[in-house]
Amino acid sequence: MNVLVLVGSLRAGSTNRQLADAAVAHLPSGVGTTVFERLADLPHYSEELDHDDALPEVARDLRDAVADHDALLLVTPEYNGSLPSALKNAVDWVSRPRGASSVAGKPAAVLGASGSPRGAQWAREDGVKVLKVAGADVLDDTVGVGSAFQAFAEGRLTDAELDGALRDLVRSLAAKVERARDAA
Ligand SMILES: Cc1cc2nc3c(=O)[nH]c(=O)nc-3n(C[C@H](O)[C@H](O)[C@H](O)COP(=O)(O)O)c2cc1C
Repeated sequence: MNVLVLVGSLRAGSTNRQLADAAVAHLPSGVGTTVFERLADLPHYSEELDHDDALPEVARDLRDAVADHDALLLVTPEYNGSLPSALKNAVDWVSRPRGASSVAGKPAAVLGASGSPRGAQWAREDGVKVLKVAGADVLDDTVGVGSAFQAFAEGRLTDAELDGALRDLVRSLAAKVERARDAA
C-alpha cells in the first residue's frame, strides 16, 4: 500500500509539512508514502491546457501519481477561511477528465494545521467537500491542529490526545484501502 501526500503550504518550515510527517509516522509499517513536491509548479487549471497536446508535464505527473497510489492525504493550512489555492488547483487537475479521473473512488483523508485555535477547520471542511465532489472516497473525520506554531516537538505532536486522533485517522485511511482491496 502507498499513500500520496499533498501539502497545501509551500513554505519551508511549514507546520502542515510537520503534520504530514507526523501522520506518515503513524501509518502501519510497510506503507509507502510520497509527498508530491511540485504543487508550486502546477499551472492554474484551464480547460485549454487540458488536452493531450497541451497538458503540462507536471499536471500529467500529478494525475499519474494519484493513479499510482492507493490513497490520498490532503494536509491543509487555512487561507481566508478555506483551502489555499495550491491545493484546490491540485484537486481541480486530478478531478478531470470527467468520468475517468485519477481521484475517482480514491480513498482520501484531510488534515489541517493553522495558527488559530480552530485548527484550519473551514479548510478541512472544504477539503472534504471538494474531494467528495471530485469523486474521492473521503473520510468525513478530519484532524485539526490549532496553535500550530507551538504544537510540534521533534517531529511529533506534543498533545498526546491529538496525536492519538491523528494515528486513528491515518489507520482508518489504511483500513479503508484494505476494505476496498478485499471488495475488489
Ligand atoms: C493568505 C493567508 C490567509 C490566512 N487565512 C487564515 C484563516 O482564514 N484562518 C486561519 O486560521 N489562519 C489563516 N492564516 C494563517 C495560516 O493558517 C497559518 O499561517 C498556517 O499555520 C500556515 O501553515 P504552514 O505553517 O503550514 O505554512 C492565513 C495565512 C495566510 C498567509
